[in-house]
Amino acid sequence: MTFIELSLLFLTIFILFRLSSRSPKTYPGTTPYLRPWLPYIGSIGYALAPQEWMAKMHEKMGDVFTTTILGQYVTFVKGHKNVMRWAGATNKELDIGEAYKKLAGNLIGRDVFEIGASRTMYEAIAPSRLDSIQPALYAFTCKFVSSKLPSSTEWSSPTDITPLLVEGTLQLAAWALCGRHLAETHGAELAENFRVLENDLSVLGLLLNFPTPAVKRRDQAKKRAFEIIQAEFKERIRAIREGEEVDDDFMSVVLGETVDDELLSSGNDDDIVKAVRKNILIVYGIIWGAHTNTASSASATFCDLLSSPSHISTILSQRGNSDDFIFTEQTHLLRCLTETFRRHSTGTLVRLASEPFPISESGELVAPPGFVLVSPEPYSLSPSTYPDPASFNPDRYAPSVFPHALDAVQSPSVSANAGLLAAWGLGKHACPGRFLAYRMVGNLVLAILAGWEVEMVGEPPKWKGLGTGGIDRAEGPVMVRWRKRIN
Ligand code: HEM
Repeated sequence: MTFIELSLLFLTIFILFRLSSRSPKTYPGTTPYLRPWLPYIGSIGYALAPQEWMAKMHEKMGDVFTTTILGQYVTFVKGHKNVMRWAGATNKELDIGEAYKKLAGNLIGRDVFEIGASRTMYEAIAPSRLDSIQPALYAFTCKFVSSKLPSSTEWSSPTDITPLLVEGTLQLAAWALCGRHLAETHGAELAENFRVLENDLSVLGLLLNFPTPAVKRRDQAKKRAFEIIQAEFKERIRAIREGEEVDDDFMSVVLGETVDDELLSSGNDDDIVKAVRKNILIVYGIIWGAHTNTASSASATFCDLLSSPSHISTILSQRGNSDDFIFTEQTHLLRCLTETFRRHSTGTLVRLASEPFPISESGELVAPPGFVLVSPEPYSLSPSTYPDPASFNPDRYAPSVFPHALDAVQSPSVSANAGLLAAWGLGKHACPGRFLAYRMVGNLVLAILAGWEVEMVGEPPKWKGLGTGGIDRAEGPVMVRWRKRIN
């Protein structure tokens, strides 16, 4: 084939592809459509560098536009009024569970997204319960950290702090939600299985769920995590039957609410296993929800603090020498955490519309059925609310400087109306676990830095935003060295 024939062939294929790529013009009052160059795959630039791509395309296309990605319509929404409409949409209009089922279902299991958040979960992670478990949670954190870090007062060789933080946050999530028995007996194994579930990724396997080796490893890890949680439910039931004192945690509340007293006191094991099957899913889903972003945020926190060590001194002097500190009085630590969460939560908030979704009141902007996305960046990294937004500056939340009210964890409001911080989502779906996340990362920071001197070795890693809501992921290790403090 000659060069001209080959060029003509490519041109024909290209034109056919372009003609066959769907455009949502059949919907009334549709949004501006960004026609991708690649058919089916669509606007792949979003997957490669989401934040940069969105900023560039909003500039070109305006506050609201639609494109096609992997055969799906995806509408990007910006502008306060439009975002408020998005945040205030009913679940029927914009479904959060369906969106995450499609995006993360193959990773963690689609059934997890069918159960929804329960009232019991909100009780288990409410600030008042967290206040009451704080001393024991801190003691557990210190025990965990001491079992992992060297006792030598000489500097260690360079090591990646990430595995310690991944396991630590999982252990703390298991402890806070499912009690000390699970954390102490199977915390490490559970952490390893969740590591496989969260990190052993194959993009092809994720999207298409082919039985690739990564998919098989994930299935195996999920099966084992289920077995561990099921065994823990059985153990809890045994303890209740034998009148032992059990932790007053999420697992107990779930059991009390879903397994009737008769079954609990005298049912056979098989019936009980059947009855707790849904609960295993709830516990598994909640541990995953509590862990996946918190582990990354712990790495990001250490990167930020070790790059500006003067904040470590302020945190430690505020903490004092006693382990009996009040968590919500650690204002400098909390401001540092808020600053890390703000800078590193650039992952996009995703919903799924099964019907055309009217965005503007007048109805001239209607998103076609598909994903409808909001980026936290225009809020959380807005230079008008946060001067020099990319810099790590916890002091910006000092009441004399920050012109807005802060809550008990030194965080600006996450309400959609306030339009200040979208790191945890906005409005009614804003993360209910954020207070637990502050505790998990905060306790790890205090337990490690109070007992060990830690220094960054080399450069901090680069960070990559997620395609869904949450904390950016490090693109490499966080190398540190440490030595035990001499008291
Ligand atoms: C640093 C850690 C965390 C980050 C950055 C984070 C981030 C988020 C974000 C951005 C959303 C909203 C998603 C959206 O609107 O599309 C969300 C929702 C949620 N988060 Fe978190 N989260 C963290 C930790 C936790 C923890 C510790 C829990 C504990 C159980 C938790 C439980 C949930 C639940 C249940 C939802 C869904 C709420 C709903 O559908 O109404 N998260 N999280």
